[in-house]
Amino acid sequence: MTGPAAPAFSIRPEAAEAPPSGIVEVFSYARGREDLIPLYVGEGDLPTPGFLVEAAQSALAAGETFYTWQRGLPELREAIARYHARVWGAQVSPDRFTVTIGGMHATQMAMRIVAGPGDEVLIPSPAWPNFDGAVRVAGAAPVAVPLSAGPAGWRLDLGRLAAAVTPRTRAMLINSPANPTGWTATREDLAGILALARRHGLWIVADEIYARFVHDPVLVAAGRSPSFRDVMEEGDRVMFVQTFSKNWAMTGWRLGWLETPPDLGPIIENLVQYSTSGVPAFLQRAAICALDEGEELVADQIARARRGRAIVCEGLAATNVVDLPPPPAAFYAFFRVLGRPDSRRLALELVDRAGVGLAPGSAFGEGGTAHLRLCFLRDPGQLEEAVARLARVLPDLARPQAN
Ligand SMILES: Cc1ncc(COP(=O)(O)O)c(C=O)c1O
Repeated sequence: MTGPAAPAFSIRPEAAEAPPSGIVEVFSYARGREDLIPLYVGEGDLPTPGFLVEAAQSALAAGETFYTWQRGLPELREAIARYHARVWGAQVSPDRFTVTIGGMHATQMAMRIVAGPGDEVLIPSPAWPNFDGAVRVAGAAPVAVPLSAGPAGWRLDLGRLAAAVTPRTRAMLINSPANPTGWTATREDLAGILALARRHGLWIVADEIYARFVHDPVLVAAGRSPSFRDVMEEGDRVMFVQTFSKNWAMTGWRLGWLETPPDLGPIIENLVQYSTSGVPAFLQRAAICALDEGEELVADQIARARRGRAIVCEGLAATNVVDLPPPPAAFYAFFRVLGRPDSRRLALELVDRAGVGLAPGSAFGEGGTAHLRLCFLRDPGQLEEAVARLARVLPDLARPQAN
């Protein structure tokens, strides 16, 4: 990926060369089309429910308008700890948590702590493009480690990951369940990755934000995806990125958290001071409410995703021109259309011919160039309509004989 044209004046290369998002091109192309069904963005279609909005409004009305704790309100960090006990059965001390401006800010701070110029960060790919961008903005070099796609879905070859380690490697950014592939590491995968990290003294930045959006029956029975938390021990170099965006329908609030070993607390406090200087206190009040009173909402979001997955996977399979192993987790269908390796062109054609907006797989790195990403955390009726439209045109656009 190449960055935007260098401006005439002199600026740091990390800023000038930050890669553009490949999704934006399709998004801009589709802008203004009246009956377009937009499935390219990674978010649900329901607005944040009233009880969370009211929690923020009351805090604002009560005068919570001042500078606040750099690492987050103590009450919120305690609520996050309670949430971890509930979901992961883990006793995590609040001093490991820092409240951030979304998962993106957590990722960016993690990168600034572990990697800089001359360093490399391994990223299983295809991957959410912001990982690549965050590594580059920190001045380090992202190294994509291809996941392999097979009839049973995506897999990470641990030998391939190990072979990508060089003397410059500082960290591995592991997103499981993954956006866009749905790849979900097994407990054995995670133990293998952790062993590799220990062997080479690497950091693991674990993004498990989709942990609860599980669909595969084995994962559903467990209630969540396997976590590094299940295999790590005190002293392991693991950070966790988390967000309120997806579970609680709060993408626009920009709320998340970063979990680190506690001795990094003072360092993170400084990084917060010199970047955001903290997350607005009145927003944090809604975050506490989400964690303590939002379980029904999370269950609804997961059920909505599961229903969407069934509509999309069954509908697209029936076209016979789509290769889509049902994703075990998260809320994306990442599929290939037979004989159509150029996802960028196909995504533009689908805007015109089907009135459906999909993200081109090329935006997610090399292993994804032939794929399209569809977000199914949406209204079931709208998804049925989108699938019907796609089913009408895909047999025409596919070239099965080419495969
Ligand atoms: C894998 C992954 N991590 C983190 C995020 C960050 O979300 P936010 O910055 O909205 O919290 C996203 C958003 O799409 C994501 O897909």
